[in-house]
Amino acid sequence: MDQIDELRGGILKDVDAADNLAALDAVRVEALGKKGRITALMKTLGGMDAESRKSAGQALNVLKDEVAAAIASRKADLEESTLNARLADESIDVSLPIRQESHGLVHPISQTIEEIVEIFAPMGFEVAEGPDIEDDFHNFTALNFPPDHPAREMHDTFFMPRKEDGTRNLLRTHTSPVQVRVMQSSSPPIRILAPGRTYRCDYDITHTPMFHQVEGLVIDKATHMGHLKGCLIEFAKAYFEVDDLPIRFRPSYFPFTEPSAEVDIGCSRSGGELKIGAGADWLEILGCGMVHPNVLRACGLDPDVYQGFAFGMGVERVAMLKYGIPDLRTFFDSDLRWLRHYGFSALDVPSLAGGLSQ
Ligand code: PHE
Repeated sequence: MDQIDELRGGILKDVDAADNLAALDAVRVEALGKKGRITALMKTLGGMDAESRKSAGQALNVLKDEVAAAIASRKADLEESTLNARLADESIDVSLPIRQESHGLVHPISQTIEEIVEIFAPMGFEVAEGPDIEDDFHNFTALNFPPDHPAREMHDTFFMPRKEDGTRNLLRTHTSPVQVRVMQSSSPPIRILAPGRTYRCDYDITHTPMFHQVEGLVIDKATHMGHLKGCLIEFAKAYFEVDDLPIRFRPSYFPFTEPSAEVDIGCSRSGGELKIGAGADWLEILGCGMVHPNVLRACGLDPDVYQGFAFGMGVERVAMLKYGIPDLRTFFDSDLRWLRHYGFSALDVPSLAGGLSQ
C-alpha cells in the first residue's frame, strides 16, 4: 500500500510538472504504458495470495483511474493555454494603417449590385433579403409553377436530401421567392429590391452553378404596365450610362407574371466589337411582367384589390455587358490578376450624381 501511495504522489507530481503536451505524454507512457510503473505493479499481482491480490488489485485500479483523470485534466489545461498563446501571438491590430503595397478592390459583382441599388433607391425601392435555401412552396408553388413544370426537375435545381415527411429543400433557382416572402410578411404598398445568390445546375461560358440576381417588386392598388416600363427604361439608361439607349419590351412568358416581357437594349456588333447604344442589334438584359393574380392569391393578397409588377435580372450578365467581361466563370476564379483588372476602388462609392462607375 505504501508503495502505491508513493507511486501516486510521484506520478501526480510529474503530471503537474509537465509544461507541454509532449512532456505530459511522456509521463503517461511512463505510468500507464506497456512498460510503465503502474503496469509493472499490476504484473506482480499474479504472485500474491488471493487476499492481498484482491486489495492490491483494487487499489491499483483506483490509482490507474486517478492518474488517467489527472492526465486528461492537465491535457485540457495545456491545450487551452497553447490555444490562448497562439491566439495572442497571431492577433492583428486592425487599427494600424494599411501596408503601402496592399490595396483591396471591390469585386465587380458587389459594384454592380451597388450601382443597381443606387438607381432604384431614389425611386423608393428598399433592399430586402431571403434565404438561399428555400422550400418548394416559395421557389415554385407560390409563384404559379404547375406541378410538372420542367424547372422543378433535377436538371436545373439543386435539391437537398428528402426529409422524413417526404419534402425536400432546394437552393433557390431565382430571387423571386423573396417576392413571396415580402408579400406574406408585409402589406402593400410594397416596393422592394432583392439582390442575392441563386443556384442552377449548369456550367459553361455563360452559366455557373452559383450566380446572382436582383429582383424588383412593386405592389399597390394602381401600379400598371406603364410604371413598369418607366422604371426599367430609367434603370437601363442610368445603368449603362447611355442617355439615348434604345430599349424594347418583347412579349415573353413566366409562370408568375401576366403579361410578361423581356427587355432588350440596343447594341452594335460591327467590327467584332460589342458596343451598347444605338445600333443594328439587340441584347436581352432582364425579365419582367405584371404579378400574376395566382401569385398574389398564394401570398394572401386579393388580386381584385392589389396589383403590381416584378422584374428580375442577372447581375453577372449586366456586369459582363457593361464592363466587357467575356467569360462568366472568371467571376468566381479568385484570380488576383483578374480582380486587379476588373475590381473597383473601395472609396469610389457609386452615386447617380457623382457617376456610377468612375
Ligand atoms: N425569376 C425570373 C428568372 O429567374 C426573372 C423574373 C423575375 C421575370 C420577375 C419576371 C419577373 O428568370
